[in-house]
Amino acid sequence: MSTISTSDYRGVYHFSPKEKWMNDPNGMVFFKGEYHLFYQHHPFGTTWGPMHWGHAVTRDLVTWEELPIALAPDEHGMIFSGSAVVDWNNTSGFFDDEPGLVAIFTHHQEVADHHPVQRQSLAYSKDSGRTWIKYEGNPVLEHESFVDFRDPKVFWHEQTKEWIMIIACGQTVCLYHSPDLKDWTVGSEFGTGIGSHDGVWECPDLFPLAVDGDMSQEKWVMLVSIGADPAFKEGSRTQYFTGDFNGTTFVPDEASHTVRWLDYGRDNYAGVSWSDIPAEDGRRLFMGWMSNWMYANQTPTEDYRGAMTIARELTLETRNSKVVLIQRPARELEQFRTSVLSLQDASISQVSELLSTLHLINYEIHAEWASDQSVQFALRSGMDYETLVGVDANRNEVYIDRSRSGVGSFHEHFLGRHGAELKVDDGKQHLRIFVDYSSVEVFANDGQAVITDLIYPDAGSKGISVQSGNKDLVFSSLHIYELSPIRTEGQSE
Ligand code: FRU
Repeated sequence: MSTISTSDYRGVYHFSPKEKWMNDPNGMVFFKGEYHLFYQHHPFGTTWGPMHWGHAVTRDLVTWEELPIALAPDEHGMIFSGSAVVDWNNTSGFFDDEPGLVAIFTHHQEVADHHPVQRQSLAYSKDSGRTWIKYEGNPVLEHESFVDFRDPKVFWHEQTKEWIMIIACGQTVCLYHSPDLKDWTVGSEFGTGIGSHDGVWECPDLFPLAVDGDMSQEKWVMLVSIGADPAFKEGSRTQYFTGDFNGTTFVPDEASHTVRWLDYGRDNYAGVSWSDIPAEDGRRLFMGWMSNWMYANQTPTEDYRGAMTIARELTLETRNSKVVLIQRPARELEQFRTSVLSLQDASISQVSELLSTLHLINYEIHAEWASDQSVQFALRSGMDYETLVGVDANRNEVYIDRSRSGVGSFHEHFLGRHGAELKVDDGKQHLRIFVDYSSVEVFANDGQAVITDLIYPDAGSKGISVQSGNKDLVFSSLHIYELSPIRTEGQSE
């Protein structure tokens, strides 16, 4: 369970390791009531180093139990990113009477001349991920020419009755298939001439989603993270494609260069979705690493470094006649709310007065007002710092401005303003803002535009205020909830 601490910027409702370095989420799988999170971990330092898989589990997507390291480097190299699945039908032959977990990950080895070799390997667990056995036939998949050949994400494809692996291959992704997780056959390669190639392709994911909740209108979503390149001040970020997939080939809906970003902030990278969520739940749940390779090794925390975003549900919805990927905070977060303010049809002057009495660090704001009005909140404000979150209705834009948010001198591109285009079509602005000790996550227009940014104010910066050019502005609704990992059942809506 996360410890509540008022120092060192540790979020109270975000996952961070108790100590040392963390990057990508790995092996996210649901099994026997537990959501597993493995993660890229350097257990001996607070900067990136020889990669292990750290491990934590949660039953509610907010409170975590950290478990011993799951996978450590071996004769084939470090343990890079990958995925985990439940082998329900024992296709791998690893299990006896009961299904268990199989992890499919990249072994990264530096050979004599420092030339890296990346190959795919397996490990399995018969005790709900507590202990792991590496497969003696490792590695199971290598490539003769790709130097960057990593981050396998595997899922069961019912139509072809095979496992599918999507894996990053330099500037493309490759799709493989297998009957048993051990023997892999290449199906196709995707990515040449489409999407962003501003950095190396990493950590892909591929999954089907119903369009507007209609199962007969299924589309496939591909996530592809792209690494940081000094030529781009955005650093590392994640793009997505929609299309069709038949078990071997992904055909995108649009053969164009228009890049669709998952998140318009700087700090949501290498995110993928959970495997094996039960059909009766039916959600596609996602979590990303809340940092950026541009400055991940320099952020100002001490005993640990790295946090995950909140868990989010992904859906495909038609907005302004286009099918787009929508993100909403996982509903489990609502159990951890304590209502601080709950107003309907409140004028901005009334709201301003009430906000001036509040001092909050970890909370959610849920606000609605007319779509043609601009509104700006100042959050985590104190003597020296404030983070601005607003909607500019004239520019159809939502933004986080962290120019004065706190400590930022550790990288020249950290401080700044990040905006996303809004396409409001129901006459109302809807904004949900999640604030914690060192992060802000904004979901605008009911999940259409998302911005995730780290911030490093001091713990004394707890003020909240609001502004609008229109002194007669009315919030049709405004709720503020304190969010804390201590459950407050009965107190949420
Ligand atoms: C993405 C990444 C992966 C790799 C891992 C190494 O952030 O670069 O491609 O497997 O991190 O830690």
